Amino acid sequence: MPIISVTGLGYVGLPLALEFAKKYKVIGFDINETRIALMKQGIDPSNELSADAFANRDITFTTDIEQAREANFHIIGVPTDIDKNKVPNLTPLFRASKSIGKILKKGDTVVYESTVYPGCTEEDCVPILEKHSGLKAGTDFHFGYSPERIVPGDKIRTVTNILKIVSGNNEESLANISKVYGSIIEAGLYQAPNIKVAEAAKVIENTQRDINISLMNELAIIFDKMGIDTQAVIEAAGTKWNFHKYQPGLVGGHCISVDPFYLIHKAKKIGIDPQVIAAGRRVNDFIPTFIAKRVAQTLIEQDKNPGKSSVLVMGITFKEDVSDIRNSKVFALIKELQDFGIQVTVVDPHANPIEVSNAFEAISSKSIKSITSNPLPNIKYDAIILAVGHKEFQNMTKLSFEQISINDVTLFDIKGTKNPNEFKNYWRL
Ligand SMILES: NC(=O)c1ccc[n+]([C@@H]2O[C@H](COP(=O)([O-])OP(=O)(O)OC[C@H]3O[C@@H](n4cnc5c(N)ncnc54)[C@H](O)[C@@H]3O)[C@@H](O)[C@H]2O)c1
Repeated sequence: MPIISVTGLGYVGLPLALEFAKKYKVIGFDINETRIALMKQGIDPSNELSADAFANRDITFTTDIEQAREANFHIIGVPTDIDKNKVPNLTPLFRASKSIGKILKKGDTVVYESTVYPGCTEEDCVPILEKHSGLKAGTDFHFGYSPERIVPGDKIRTVTNILKIVSGNNEESLANISKVYGSIIEAGLYQAPNIKVAEAAKVIENTQRDINISLMNELAIIFDKMGIDTQAVIEAAGTKWNFHKYQPGLVGGHCISVDPFYLIHKAKKIGIDPQVIAAGRRVNDFIPTFIAKRVAQTLIEQDKNPGKSSVLVMGITFKEDVSDIRNSKVFALIKELQDFGIQVTVVDPHANPIEVSNAFEAISSKSIKSITSNPLPNIKYDAIILAVGHKEFQNMTKLSFEQISINDVTLFDIKGTKNPNEFKNYWRL
């Protein structure tokens, strides 16, 4: 029977640890004391899991790595974000490797789940495990890589019913890793031929999506200038059997807008300057600026002074129906609006207002007018930006938009969720 430690109890680590804890003894280790205190009370700090997910589980939550010493199967799922220069920030991964290295024993297995570039596990992380354990990788201990494919907010495709890629440093290790994961993953496993293939597979899943969306975003910019409705074009083109109906939009979050930079970083290290991947990132990162300019331009066309205009931004999370605001491009959009002097109010029924204010302070010297859960019916706005397709906004009628609008306000429907014919002034990507 394996005893499992999971290091990094976030969106990825916590559901995995709780799933393993149905069958095995699990030690959940995290450096964040506040998060650990909540988990001890059966609360998921990421708001993804209900209290039921914690019931009848053999799990110890701790900030003390020593408690993970009794485990023989260690999983690492710490964040892999980028710094302000868009270069991978591997500090959490290296720190977690150091922590596990200190308690590693002969015969143990370490599996990385964090998204990385090909080569990161073997070239960058395993040497840290060796250094701090004094053990030899491949003989004294085994290691592998198994990327996570869950998507925040998705209640259907959860950890056990998504096919999981596994890889190991040799056949014996792959067999052991497959046995452990296979005992909880109902959708089955895919055994990658080696660790680099597994790492590369994960990073290209998100890179491919990023590039496909960037093409739609570029088309949206071109068609907007020509007065052509991009959604109508996609509908028409989508009648061909081999056309893929990707949608334009804001690309944020901690996966799709981050992972391509890991691949770019590795490619540059080996002397290749990726063109398509980097262009995709540039186009997608430009979309907040593009939308803000369109809003300011529209206000001017309506004889409104942007510097005296008040705009409601509906939704600030990185995607619909989640509370996660990390790397949400709506922040960039608001900052661009403020640069035109526009006063911005934010409404979001899912985001935590304190987290939003703190995150906003970190990027802008100007504050948001207010952040609330309700779109303040007694205030009227010069423009409304439907930035995130939360279900609460989908249910809003034309009348409820009119109640908060000054005259013929334009609805900027970024996700294209409303019927354009219902609104006198309507714009979508
Ligand atoms: N969130 C997703 O849906 C998703 C999906 C697939 C892959 N991934 C990848 O999985 C990894 C984890 O992402 P996440 O969204 O779960 O991150 P997260 O930010 O939700 O959680 C990470 C946790 O790790 C903890 N942590 C940070 N440094 C640590 C350390 N040195 N030791 C112990 N704990 C530490 C944090 O306190 C936090 O609780 C990333 O590489 C991410 O790209 C995420």
